[in-house]
Amino acid sequence: MKLVVIGATGRTGSEIVAEASGRGHDVDGIARSEDTIEDVRVHTSDALPDLLEDADAVIDFTVPSATREYAELVAEAGVPYVVGTTGFNEQGIDALREASESTAVLKASNFAKGVQALMRVVEAGVEALPEYDIELTETHHNGKRDAPSGTANTVLDVIDQARDEELDRTHGREGEHLREESEVGVHVRRAGNVRGEHEVMLAGNDEVLTLTHRAESRRVFAAGAVDAAEWLADKEPGWYDFADAL
Ligand SMILES: NC(=O)c1ccc[n+]([C@@H]2O[C@H](COP(=O)([O-])OP(=O)(O)OC[C@H]3O[C@@H](n4cnc5c(N)ncnc54)[C@H](OP(=O)(O)O)[C@@H]3O)[C@@H](O)[C@H]2O)c1
Repeated sequence: MKLVVIGATGRTGSEIVAEASGRGHDVDGIARSEDTIEDVRVHTSDALPDLLEDADAVIDFTVPSATREYAELVAEAGVPYVVGTTGFNEQGIDALREASESTAVLKASNFAKGVQALMRVVEAGVEALPEYDIELTETHHNGKRDAPSGTANTVLDVIDQARDEELDRTHGREGEHLREESEVGVHVRRAGNVRGEHEVMLAGNDEVLTLTHRAESRRVFAAGAVDAAEWLADKEPGWYDFADAL
């Protein structure tokens, strides 16, 4: 399969290049400056239109502003598009939705299979414990830009769906404030090179249930993103998520 990885020099993009090459795919990278990673050529964005002519899929792990620009080009070329970038605002999501009218778009805030399982377990836990307080804590490396993480926001959406109400997302706490029943606490830590950890705590009735996922390396995201691209390559235009691919 011919794959283009946008953000190929990044922490995650370089793992994706290694994973895809290791599986025997023909890979080209795009970044802001030319480079070579694992014998794969990394070009600047000027090369993208030519590369799209015979690409089977594109994987993008960059920043929201870059993804918005690339989405238009990828959609015009009708190449299936796997998006791992997180931190989009509403307009960014709208731009991807628009792209999905012309090509297959699979956007996921987390390409670890364990996180997909975490979502299901969180849903079951929240439904089983309707009166319990819920607090979410996520930890990532000190180079992560967006907070809370895309995964944390997805987990919070799952909690809202399971509770059948929009809980008030209370980001950290300071000063005098009693916890309201309608709150879900959201706590963000940025330190060292932690790959990504998400913990949901449900507490009540003299007991605490904690559900935790920890990524041990970025290879887990790379493997999931390449799995998604292999699956998406022959799909019709539309909006897909990682659970569809699994
Ligand atoms: N969905 C998931 O499973 C998952 C997992 C991990 C990370 N992420 C997300 O993926 C994104 C990247 O994370 P990261 O930790 O890999 O970041 P990173 O190390 O900062 O890498 C970002 C990459 O994007 C490139 N880039 C930035 N602007 C660009 C542009 N205008 N054109 C082309 N390339 C551009 C950078 O190129 P230069 O080096 O040339 O600047 C670099 O290669 C973040 O949004 C992060 O939250 C998602």
